[in-house]
Amino acid sequence: MAVVKEAFGKTKDGTGVTKFTITNKNGMSVSLLDYGAIVQAICVPKKNGGADDIALGFDDVAGYEVNSCYFGAFVGRHANRIGGARFDLNGTEYELQKNDNGCNNLHGGDPGYHKLMYRGDTAGESAVYFERVSPDMEQGFPGALEVKVTYTLTDENELVIEYFARSDADTIYNPTNHTYFNLLGHDGGDITHHKVKINADAVTESSKELIPNGKFIKVEGTPFDFREEKAIYLDIEADNEQLKNAGGYDHNFCLMKEPREYGYAGSFSEETTGRRVDIYTDLPGMQFYSGNFIEKENGKDGAVYTKRTGMCFETQFFPNAVNIPEFTSCYLPKGEAFNSKTVYKFSW
Ligand code: GLA
Repeated sequence: MAVVKEAFGKTKDGTGVTKFTITNKNGMSVSLLDYGAIVQAICVPKKNGGADDIALGFDDVAGYEVNSCYFGAFVGRHANRIGGARFDLNGTEYELQKNDNGCNNLHGGDPGYHKLMYRGDTAGESAVYFERVSPDMEQGFPGALEVKVTYTLTDENELVIEYFARSDADTIYNPTNHTYFNLLGHDGGDITHHKVKINADAVTESSKELIPNGKFIKVEGTPFDFREEKAIYLDIEADNEQLKNAGGYDHNFCLMKEPREYGYAGSFSEETTGRRVDIYTDLPGMQFYSGNFIEKENGKDGAVYTKRTGMCFETQFFPNAVNIPEFTSCYLPKGEAFNSKTVYKFSW
Protein backbone atom coordinates (compact mmCIF):
# COMPACT_ATOMS: atom_id res chain seq x y z
CA MET A 1 0.00 0.00 0.00
CA ALA A 2 1.12 3.50 -0.63
CA VAL A 3 -0.43 6.91 -0.45
CA VAL A 4 -0.53 8.79 -3.76
CA LYS A 5 -0.36 12.59 -3.61
CA GLU A 6 -1.57 14.74 -6.49
CA ALA A 7 -2.49 18.35 -7.14
CA PHE A 8 -6.23 19.07 -6.84
CA GLY A 9 -6.29 22.63 -8.16
CA LYS A 10 -6.24 25.86 -6.24
CA THR A 11 -8.46 27.78 -3.87
CA LYS A 12 -9.79 31.13 -5.08
CA ASP A 13 -6.94 32.88 -3.23
CA GLY A 14 -4.40 30.75 -5.14
CA THR A 15 -3.43 28.17 -2.51
CA GLY A 16 -2.59 24.77 -3.99
CA VAL A 17 -4.72 21.89 -2.72
CA THR A 18 -3.38 18.33 -2.49
CA LYS A 19 -5.39 15.15 -2.85
CA PHE A 20 -4.09 12.12 -0.93
CA THR A 21 -5.36 8.71 -2.03
CA ILE A 22 -4.86 5.66 0.17
CA THR A 23 -5.42 2.29 -1.53
CA ASN A 24 -5.52 -1.02 0.31
CA LYS A 25 -4.69 -4.54 -0.85
CA ASN A 26 -8.32 -5.25 -1.71
CA GLY A 27 -8.51 -2.42 -4.21
CA MET A 28 -10.52 -0.12 -1.97
CA SER A 29 -9.38 3.52 -1.86
CA VAL A 30 -10.12 6.71 0.04
CA SER A 31 -9.22 10.20 -1.24
CA LEU A 32 -8.70 13.12 1.13
CA LEU A 33 -8.00 16.82 0.67
CA ASP A 34 -5.87 19.17 2.75
CA TYR A 35 -8.55 21.75 1.99
CA GLY A 36 -11.12 21.14 4.74
CA ALA A 37 -9.66 17.72 5.66
CA ILE A 38 -12.40 16.59 3.27
CA VAL A 39 -13.21 12.96 2.40
CA GLN A 40 -13.41 13.50 -1.36
CA ALA A 41 -14.01 9.91 -2.53
CA ILE A 42 -14.48 6.39 -1.18
CA CYS A 43 -14.10 3.77 -3.91
CA VAL A 44 -15.13 0.18 -3.32
CA PRO A 45 -14.67 -2.63 -5.86
CA LYS A 46 -17.56 -3.82 -8.00
CA LYS A 47 -18.34 -7.50 -8.16
CA ASN A 48 -17.36 -7.75 -11.84
CA GLY A 49 -14.34 -5.48 -11.86
CA GLY A 50 -13.84 -1.77 -11.56
CA ALA A 51 -14.97 0.28 -8.60
CA ASP A 52 -17.73 2.66 -7.55
CA ASP A 53 -17.23 5.89 -5.66
CA ILE A 54 -19.85 5.78 -2.90
CA ALA A 55 -19.30 9.24 -1.36
CA LEU A 56 -20.98 12.39 -2.67
CA GLY A 57 -18.67 15.28 -3.48
CA PHE A 58 -17.12 17.58 -6.03
CA ASP A 59 -14.44 17.34 -8.73
CA ASP A 60 -12.85 20.67 -7.92
CA VAL A 61 -11.94 23.01 -5.09
CA ALA A 62 -14.53 25.56 -6.22
CA GLY A 63 -17.26 23.05 -5.34
CA TYR A 64 -15.85 22.57 -1.84
CA GLU A 65 -15.52 26.34 -1.35
CA VAL A 66 -19.32 26.54 -1.52
CA ASN A 67 -20.34 23.10 -0.21
CA SER A 68 -23.37 24.21 1.75
CA CYS A 69 -24.40 20.57 2.29
CA TYR A 70 -21.05 19.68 3.96
CA PHE A 71 -20.17 16.85 1.54
CA GLY A 72 -17.28 14.83 3.02
CA ALA A 73 -16.73 17.49 5.64
CA PHE A 74 -14.68 17.41 8.79
CA VAL A 75 -17.01 19.44 11.00
CA GLY A 76 -15.92 21.65 13.90
CA ARG A 77 -15.46 23.24 16.31
CA HIS A 78 -18.91 22.00 17.22
CA ALA A 79 -20.87 19.62 15.00
CA ASN A 80 -24.66 19.93 14.86
CA ARG A 81 -26.83 22.51 16.59
CA ILE A 82 -26.47 24.72 19.63
CA GLY A 83 -29.80 26.26 20.63
CA GLY A 84 -29.87 30.06 20.78
CA ALA A 85 -26.31 30.05 19.40
CA ARG A 86 -24.95 30.58 22.93
CA PHE A 87 -23.51 28.74 25.89
CA ASP A 88 -22.00 29.47 29.29
CA LEU A 89 -18.57 28.30 30.31
CA ASN A 90 -16.94 29.15 33.65
CA GLY A 91 -19.47 31.94 34.20
CA THR A 92 -18.87 33.61 30.82
CA GLU A 93 -21.48 33.63 28.10
CA TYR A 94 -20.22 32.88 24.60
CA GLU A 95 -22.23 33.97 21.61
CA LEU A 96 -21.90 32.07 18.37
CA GLN A 97 -23.00 32.79 14.84
CA LYS A 98 -26.72 32.39 14.24
CA ASN A 99 -26.28 30.49 10.99
CA ASP A 100 -29.30 28.19 11.33
CA ASN A 101 -32.87 29.48 11.18
CA GLY A 102 -31.56 32.91 12.11
CA CYS A 103 -31.31 31.95 15.77
CA ASN A 104 -29.27 28.77 16.30
CA ASN A 105 -25.73 27.66 15.55
CA LEU A 106 -25.07 24.81 13.10
CA HIS A 107 -21.71 23.06 12.68
CA GLY A 108 -19.71 25.81 14.43
CA GLY A 109 -20.26 28.64 11.98
CA ASP A 110 -18.12 30.45 9.49
CA PRO A 111 -15.36 29.64 8.66
CA GLY A 112 -16.43 26.01 9.01
CA TYR A 113 -13.58 23.58 9.60
CA HIS A 114 -14.44 22.09 6.20
CA LYS A 115 -13.42 25.32 4.44
CA LEU A 116 -9.97 25.87 5.93
CA MET A 117 -6.52 24.72 4.84
CA TYR A 118 -4.70 22.11 6.89
CA ARG A 119 -1.11 20.97 7.00
CA GLY A 120 -1.41 17.47 5.63
CA ASP A 121 1.03 14.59 5.48
CA THR A 122 1.17 10.85 5.24
CA ALA A 123 1.62 8.75 8.37
CA GLY A 124 3.05 5.50 7.08
CA GLU A 125 1.66 3.62 4.09
CA SER A 126 -2.01 3.68 4.96
CA ALA A 127 -2.75 6.92 6.80
CA VAL A 128 -2.93 10.66 6.23
CA TYR A 129 -3.29 13.35 8.86
CA PHE A 130 -4.35 16.98 8.73
CA GLU A 131 -3.60 19.55 11.41
CA ARG A 132 -4.19 23.19 12.16
CA VAL A 133 -4.52 25.55 15.10
CA SER A 134 -7.98 27.06 15.41
CA PRO A 135 -7.34 30.49 16.95
CA ASP A 136 -8.88 31.66 20.21
CA MET A 137 -12.43 32.92 19.55
CA GLU A 138 -12.57 31.53 16.00
CA GLN A 139 -16.33 31.13 15.28
CA GLY A 140 -16.77 32.54 18.84
CA PHE A 141 -15.29 29.59 20.76
CA PRO A 142 -12.71 30.23 23.52
CA GLY A 143 -9.19 28.80 23.45
CA ALA A 144 -6.64 28.29 20.70
CA LEU A 145 -7.30 24.68 19.74
CA GLU A 146 -4.72 22.40 18.15
CA VAL A 147 -6.79 20.20 15.87
CA LYS A 148 -5.69 16.99 14.19
CA VAL A 149 -7.66 14.43 12.21
CA THR A 150 -6.09 11.22 10.96
CA TYR A 151 -7.63 8.98 8.30
CA THR A 152 -6.40 5.39 8.01
CA LEU A 153 -7.57 2.79 5.49
CA THR A 154 -6.82 -0.73 6.72
CA ASP A 155 -6.59 -3.99 4.80
CA GLU A 156 -9.75 -5.00 6.67
CA ASN A 157 -11.52 -2.27 4.65
CA GLU A 158 -11.95 0.03 7.61
CA LEU A 159 -11.83 3.79 7.28
CA VAL A 160 -10.58 4.80 10.72
CA ILE A 161 -11.07 8.46 11.66
CA GLU A 162 -9.15 9.66 14.71
CA TYR A 163 -9.65 13.08 16.22
CA PHE A 164 -7.10 14.74 18.46
CA ALA A 165 -7.31 18.19 20.01
CA ARG A 166 -5.78 20.26 22.78
CA SER A 167 -6.72 23.79 23.85
CA ASP A 168 -4.82 26.50 25.72
CA ALA A 169 -8.00 27.47 27.57
CA ASP A 170 -11.17 25.68 28.67
CA THR A 171 -13.39 25.14 25.66
CA ILE A 172 -15.82 22.72 24.04
CA TYR A 173 -15.11 20.36 21.16
CA ASN A 174 -17.49 18.17 19.18
CA PRO A 175 -16.01 17.01 15.86
CA THR A 176 -17.72 14.82 13.31
CA ASN A 177 -17.45 13.61 9.74
CA HIS A 178 -20.24 14.56 7.36
CA THR A 179 -19.67 12.13 4.47
CA TYR A 180 -22.82 11.43 2.46
CA PHE A 181 -22.95 7.78 1.48
CA ASN A 182 -24.85 6.11 -1.33
CA LEU A 183 -23.89 2.45 -1.66
CA LEU A 184 -25.30 2.36 -5.22
CA GLY A 185 -22.59 4.88 -6.12
CA HIS A 186 -22.43 8.62 -5.48
CA ASP A 187 -24.62 9.11 -8.57
CA GLY A 188 -26.97 6.26 -7.67
CA GLY A 189 -30.01 8.40 -6.82
CA ASP A 190 -32.53 7.77 -4.06
CA ILE A 191 -31.07 6.16 -0.91
CA THR A 192 -34.33 5.16 0.74
CA HIS A 193 -34.10 1.50 -0.28
CA HIS A 194 -30.94 1.11 1.78
CA LYS A 195 -31.39 -0.80 5.02
CA VAL A 196 -30.25 0.79 8.24
CA LYS A 197 -29.58 -0.56 11.71
CA ILE A 198 -28.83 1.71 14.66
CA ASN A 199 -27.80 0.51 18.09
CA ALA A 200 -30.03 2.93 19.94
CA ASP A 201 -33.17 2.51 22.02
CA ALA A 202 -33.83 6.26 22.19
CA VAL A 203 -33.43 9.47 20.22
CA THR A 204 -33.17 12.97 21.65
CA GLU A 205 -36.47 14.81 21.24
CA SER A 206 -36.03 18.03 19.35
CA SER A 207 -37.92 21.25 18.69
CA LYS A 208 -39.28 22.34 15.32
CA GLU A 209 -35.84 23.85 14.70
CA LEU A 210 -34.21 20.47 15.48
CA ILE A 211 -32.76 21.57 18.82
CA PRO A 212 -32.77 18.81 21.48
CA ASN A 213 -34.76 19.90 24.53
CA GLY A 214 -33.30 17.41 27.02
CA LYS A 215 -36.08 14.82 26.65
CA PHE A 216 -35.69 11.38 25.15
CA ILE A 217 -38.05 9.38 22.95
CA LYS A 218 -37.93 5.61 23.22
CA VAL A 219 -37.69 4.24 19.69
CA GLU A 220 -39.95 1.29 20.34
CA GLY A 221 -43.13 1.52 18.26
CA THR A 222 -41.88 4.64 16.43
CA PRO A 223 -40.33 5.24 12.98
CA PHE A 224 -37.02 5.63 14.84
CA ASP A 225 -36.79 1.96 15.72
CA PHE A 226 -33.76 0.74 13.76
CA ARG A 227 -32.70 -1.83 16.35
CA GLU A 228 -33.38 -4.44 13.69
CA GLU A 229 -32.24 -3.66 10.16
CA LYS A 230 -35.00 -1.76 8.33
CA ALA A 231 -35.37 -0.13 4.91
CA ILE A 232 -35.48 3.65 5.19
CA TYR A 233 -38.49 4.13 2.91
CA LEU A 234 -40.78 2.09 5.16
CA ASP A 235 -41.33 4.78 7.81
CA ILE A 236 -39.70 7.96 6.50
CA GLU A 237 -43.04 9.47 5.47
CA ALA A 238 -44.88 8.34 8.62
CA ASP A 239 -47.23 10.74 10.33
CA ASN A 240 -44.80 11.67 13.07
CA GLU A 241 -44.11 15.18 14.27
CA GLN A 242 -40.38 14.64 14.83
CA LEU A 243 -39.98 13.32 11.29
CA LYS A 244 -42.06 16.12 9.80
CA ASN A 245 -40.01 18.81 11.55
CA ALA A 246 -36.90 17.50 9.79
CA GLY A 247 -38.45 16.47 6.46
CA GLY A 248 -37.25 12.92 7.13
CA TYR A 249 -34.57 11.50 9.38
CA ASP A 250 -32.24 14.10 10.87
CA HIS A 251 -32.06 12.97 14.47
CA ASN A 252 -29.56 12.14 17.15
CA PHE A 253 -29.64 8.50 18.21
CA CYS A 254 -28.49 7.72 21.77
CA LEU A 255 -26.15 4.78 21.37
CA MET A 256 -26.59 1.81 23.71
CA LYS A 257 -23.17 1.79 25.31
CA GLU A 258 -21.29 3.78 27.91
CA PRO A 259 -21.03 7.32 26.48
CA ARG A 260 -17.27 7.35 25.82
CA GLU A 261 -16.85 3.59 25.44
CA TYR A 262 -15.81 2.39 21.98
CA GLY A 263 -18.54 0.18 20.55
CA TYR A 264 -21.00 -0.65 17.80
CA ALA A 265 -23.13 2.25 16.54
CA GLY A 266 -24.94 0.83 13.52
CA SER A 267 -24.83 -0.39 9.95
CA PHE A 268 -26.28 0.31 6.52
CA SER A 269 -26.49 -1.90 3.48
CA GLU A 270 -27.76 -2.10 -0.07
CA GLU A 271 -29.06 -5.40 -1.41
CA THR A 272 -28.42 -5.18 -5.15
CA THR A 273 -24.72 -4.39 -4.72
CA GLY A 274 -24.25 -6.47 -1.57
CA ARG A 275 -22.46 -3.52 0.01
CA ARG A 276 -22.53 -2.90 3.70
CA VAL A 277 -20.95 -0.54 6.22
CA ASP A 278 -20.63 -1.16 9.97
CA ILE A 279 -19.97 1.84 12.19
CA TYR A 280 -18.14 1.93 15.53
CA THR A 281 -17.41 4.93 17.72
CA ASP A 282 -16.42 6.09 21.19
CA LEU A 283 -18.84 9.02 21.02
CA PRO A 284 -22.25 8.86 22.71
CA GLY A 285 -24.52 9.74 19.77
CA MET A 286 -25.01 9.39 16.05
CA GLN A 287 -27.03 11.71 13.81
CA PHE A 288 -28.75 9.78 11.07
CA TYR A 289 -29.45 12.36 8.36
CA SER A 290 -31.31 11.15 5.26
CA GLY A 291 -30.17 14.04 3.04
CA ASN A 292 -33.51 15.86 3.22
CA PHE A 293 -32.03 19.30 2.57
CA ILE A 294 -29.99 18.53 -0.56
CA GLU A 295 -31.66 20.76 -3.12
CA LYS A 296 -29.68 20.45 -6.32
CA GLU A 297 -25.93 20.08 -6.33
CA ASN A 298 -23.71 19.53 -9.35
CA GLY A 299 -21.42 16.80 -8.11
CA LYS A 300 -18.60 14.59 -9.36
CA ASP A 301 -18.57 13.28 -12.94
CA GLY A 302 -21.61 15.35 -13.92
CA ALA A 303 -23.83 13.78 -11.28
CA VAL A 304 -26.70 15.88 -9.97
CA TYR A 305 -27.49 15.28 -6.31
CA THR A 306 -30.98 16.03 -5.01
CA LYS A 307 -33.06 15.32 -1.90
CA ARG A 308 -32.26 11.93 -0.30
CA THR A 309 -29.58 10.87 -2.76
CA GLY A 310 -27.01 10.58 0.02
CA MET A 311 -27.13 10.00 3.78
CA CYS A 312 -24.89 10.73 6.74
CA PHE A 313 -24.09 8.85 9.93
CA GLU A 314 -22.47 11.55 12.04
CA THR A 315 -21.00 10.27 15.30
CA GLN A 316 -21.03 13.02 17.90
CA PHE A 317 -21.77 14.34 21.35
CA PHE A 318 -25.51 14.97 21.54
CA PRO A 319 -26.48 18.24 19.85
CA ASN A 320 -26.98 21.14 22.27
CA ALA A 321 -25.23 19.12 25.02
CA VAL A 322 -23.49 22.32 26.04
CA ASN A 323 -26.84 23.71 27.20
CA ILE A 324 -28.26 20.48 28.66
CA PRO A 325 -26.47 19.31 31.81
CA GLU A 326 -27.99 15.79 31.61
CA PHE A 327 -26.21 15.08 28.30
CA THR A 328 -22.61 13.84 28.27
CA SER A 329 -20.52 16.99 28.09
CA CYS A 330 -18.25 17.98 25.23
CA TYR A 331 -16.29 20.25 27.61
CA LEU A 332 -12.54 20.13 26.96
CA PRO A 333 -10.46 21.48 29.85
CA LYS A 334 -7.36 23.56 29.18
CA GLY A 335 -4.32 21.44 28.30
CA GLU A 336 -6.18 18.13 28.27
CA ALA A 337 -5.75 15.86 25.25
CA PHE A 338 -8.99 15.05 23.41
CA ASN A 339 -8.94 11.73 21.57
CA SER A 340 -11.78 10.06 19.75
CA LYS A 341 -12.20 7.40 17.12
CA THR A 342 -14.92 6.45 14.62
CA VAL A 343 -14.62 3.52 12.21
CA TYR A 344 -16.61 2.79 9.04
CA LYS A 345 -15.99 -0.82 8.03
CA PHE A 346 -16.92 -1.61 4.44
CA SER A 347 -17.81 -4.97 2.92
CA TRP A 348 -19.14 -6.00 -0.48
C1 GLA B 1 -26.55 18.04 9.56
C2 GLA B 1 -27.83 18.56 10.07
C3 GLA B 1 -28.79 18.70 8.94
C4 GLA B 1 -28.24 19.57 7.85
C5 GLA B 1 -26.89 19.07 7.42
C6 GLA B 1 -26.24 20.01 6.45
O1 GLA B 1 -26.63 16.73 9.22
O2 GLA B 1 -28.34 17.75 11.10
O3 GLA B 1 -29.98 19.25 9.44
O4 GLA B 1 -28.11 20.88 8.32
O5 GLA B 1 -26.05 18.88 8.52
O6 GLA B 1 -27.02 20.23 5.34
